[in-house]
Amino acid sequence: MTIDNQEQLDALIRAGRVVAEARQAMVDAVSPGTTTGELDAVGRSVFRRHGARSAPRVTYRFPGSTCISVNDEAAHGIPSLKRQLLAGDLVNLDVSAELDGYFSDTGISVAVGEVSPVAASLLSATKLAQHDAMEAAQPGARLRDLGRAVQRRARRHGFRVIKNLNGHGIGRGLHEPPSVPSVDDGQRMVLREGLVLAIEPFLSVSADHVVDDDDGWTLRTADGSLVAQFEHSIVVTREGPLVLTA
Ligand code: CO
Ligand code: CO
Repeated sequence: MTIDNQEQLDALIRAGRVVAEARQAMVDAVSPGTTTGELDAVGRSVFRRHGARSAPRVTYRFPGSTCISVNDEAAHGIPSLKRQLLAGDLVNLDVSAELDGYFSDTGISVAVGEVSPVAASLLSATKLAQHDAMEAAQPGARLRDLGRAVQRRARRHGFRVIKNLNGHGIGRGLHEPPSVPSVDDGQRMVLREGLVLAIEPFLSVSADHVVDDDDGWTLRTADGSLVAQFEHSIVVTREGPLVLTA
């Protein structure tokens, strides 16, 4: 959506605070031995406390309140009390919710205990790539500038960009136009003030696309390599990106 009044902005800020709080509570609960089902329950309780609803559940009937993906799983991993995290894993927490008719979406990849140097490097590069893409989201910039920023960052750190997972518009729905590619696909659309975007590059050690898992939800790297994602919902403003999910 593109916002045009303060009430809309205030509602988006409220929704953003809820998902940021849920994300942080889940991050705080990550440790070796914890299950992804337990982490999901932490997020669900934050949603409930604020009267928010899980966005993937209400939008797609996703069988969890949040999406939790481990190692080569990029996105849409189903939380389970049988899936225990181990030291050395990378876990991605993707947290999105609806509050009073407004949607917000955020994601973070975190290390479980001590991880390999390449995993640690992938985390920091992906976080920087997400930051670079947000900074590129200025009024008057083109959509392709965001993907270009991600690609530049990935190249500098020796990682690949997942091409078939995109960011998106957000606001009155979880996934709205425009699609926000993490590579420069030549899109000439110009960003205007007030546009609300969820910016979420995925970087991998060696894969450039993800494939469907047999469970019907999970997306994993085609070659089994590690993948990471960071995501924030932002509003494009003249003063730079207003991060709703900080
Ligand atoms: Co998300
Ligand atoms: Co998203």
